[in-house]
Amino acid sequence: MKYKGIIFDLDGVICFTDHYHYLAWKALADEIGVYFDETINNRLRGVSRMASLEIILERSEKAYTPAEKEQMAEKKNGIYRKLLEKMTPTDLSGEVKETLDALRAAGAKLAIGSSSKNTKLILSRIGLGGYFDAISDGTNITHSKPDPEVFTKAAEFLGLPPQDCLVVEDALAGIDAAVAGGFDGAGLGEAASHPKVTWPLKTFSGLMAIES
Ligand code: BG6
Ligand code: MG
Repeated sequence: MKYKGIIFDLDGVICFTDHYHYLAWKALADEIGVYFDETINNRLRGVSRMASLEIILERSEKAYTPAEKEQMAEKKNGIYRKLLEKMTPTDLSGEVKETLDALRAAGAKLAIGSSSKNTKLILSRIGLGGYFDAISDGTNITHSKPDPEVFTKAAEFLGLPPQDCLVVEDALAGIDAAVAGGFDGAGLGEAASHPKVTWPLKTFSGLMAIES
C-alpha cells in the first residue's frame, strides 16, 4: 500500500449520519423560525457543533446569548442522539467493511479523524467499536476542520508522519484540513471536486485502486 496509514472521516464516509444531522438541525431551525435547507446543511459537513449552529443562526433576526446557544446545541444533540438509536450494524455497508478489511490486510493502519463528539457512540452502533487502530475526534481537539488538528492528532496516535497518511473525506472543509496538515486527500461526493484533492473517488471501494 502506498500509504502506511489511512485516516477516515466518519459522517458521510464510513456511515451516513449526515442525514440525521440534517433532520436534527432542521427540527431546531423550525422551532426557532429560521430558514434551513439541504444546501445550507452542506456547509455544516466537517464543521463542529457550535460552528454549525453559528452558520444556521446567520439567517436569524434574533441575537442569542452564549448560554442560549449552548442550550440550542444541546437540544439538537439530544434529537440527533435519539435518531442514532435507530442505527444498527446493518447501517455499515458491505462495501465499506470489505474495503476497510482489504486495506488492513494490505498493511495499512486505519484511523478515524472526525469532528464529532458522538464518534465512539456511532462506531459502536454500527459494529465498529474497537475496530480502528486510532480514533481522533471532537473530544480531543480544540479547532475543527478546516483546521488540520483532528488529522494531525490521528497521525500522531498512529505514530506516523502526515506524508505517510492518506485522509478520506466527503467535505470540502475536510480536504482543506488535509492539505493544511500536509496530507494527501481522497475525496468522495462534493470533496471529489475539490481543486486540491489528490485522489477523486466515485465510490468508497475506489480506494483499492490507489496504486500500491
Ligand atoms: C462532523 C459532521 O463529522 O461532526 C458535522 O460532518 C458535525 O456536520 C460535526 O457538526 C460535529 O458532530 P457532533 O456529533 O459532535 O455534534
Ligand atoms: Mg463528513
